[in-house]
Amino acid sequence: MVKIAFNSALAQKALGKEGEVLVAEKDPETASVYSNESSTGRCLLTLLGLAFILTGLIVGGACVYRYFTPKKLYHGAMHFTELDSEVVPVDMETREPYYLPRVDEDVEIQDNVAIINVSMPRFGEGDPAYILHDFKRKLTAYLDLNLGNCFVIPLNTSVVMPPQDLLDLFQQLMSGSYRTYLVHEDLVVTERIDNVSKLGFYIFHLCGGKDTYRMQRRSDVMAGIQKRSVEECFTIRHFENKFVTETKICKP
Ligand SMILES: *[C@@H]1O[C@H](CO)[C@@H](O)[C@H](O)[C@H]1NC(C)=O
Ligand SMILES: *[C@@H]1O[C@H](CO)[C@@H](O)[C@H](O)[C@H]1NC(C)=O
Ligand SMILES: *[C@@H]1O[C@H](CO)[C@@H](O)[C@H](O)[C@H]1NC(C)=O
Repeated sequence: MVKIAFNSALAQKALGKEGEVLVAEKDPETASVYSNESSTGRCLLTLLGLAFILTGLIVGGACVYRYFTPKKLYHGAMHFTELDSEVVPVDMETREPYYLPRVDEDVEIQDNVAIINVSMPRFGEGDPAYILHDFKRKLTAYLDLNLGNCFVIPLNTSVVMPPQDLLDLFQQLMSGSYRTYLVHEDLVVTERIDNVSKLGFYIFHLCGGKDTYRMQRRSDVMAGIQKRSVEECFTIRHFENKFVTETKICKP
């Protein structure tokens, strides 16, 4: 039945009025021929074909869905001035702050996790890094991409905004960059973490197979414990709030 309708439609398009007459004459004939043949067989084949098409559509749809659903990835940039060198000429204040150092970030925010991709600064210092804030486990992990090492410290909620506020901040940043100030943070490596799987799924995903260290704020490390060794230090500049944080990490 389907086949006949299709045929006549095609014929009409191709042949016009003449064809219409032809088809009208031919149709009953072909119909009877088809019904005499194994119509059940044709029916099954058609069903099979439809099933294939449906499967294709479903699988294809799933793929498209996977690739094109918004992954809640935001981009943001902040320009900053050093907090202690607040002597910016007044006329420059009003101009676009393009002469200022700038931090660019991509962030993906899920319910309890924010994953930040800090790119290599175009000028100024700072390592490219991935920073993961696990709000449920209250941990922050820095994966320094120059070193390939991970550094873990308890989440500081006075520096890192909660997920919803962070989302709002990045939505604001979508419409332009922000001018802010720089805050310094001084961290020291205290020990190596042997089993990263204890730090939760997300940090394990980020840091698994990489040398991972635990850190503390330098001010929290008791002076007596600190050895006077040569330290290897590097910095990561990032923001999870309305200011830029320069995290200095030192490894004894
Ligand atoms: C991280 O950011 C850099 C620079 O923006 C980009 O080249 C790189 O592809 C990003 N990586 C991922 C996984 O998004
Ligand atoms: C969080 O960061 C702020 C600013 O750097 C600092 O004053 C405070 O001591 C930190 N809190 C914790 C718990 O480390
Ligand atoms: C790491 O810890 C997890 C969970 O505590 C455990 O299942 C796993 O065997 C440990 N792996 C190693 C190498 O110790």
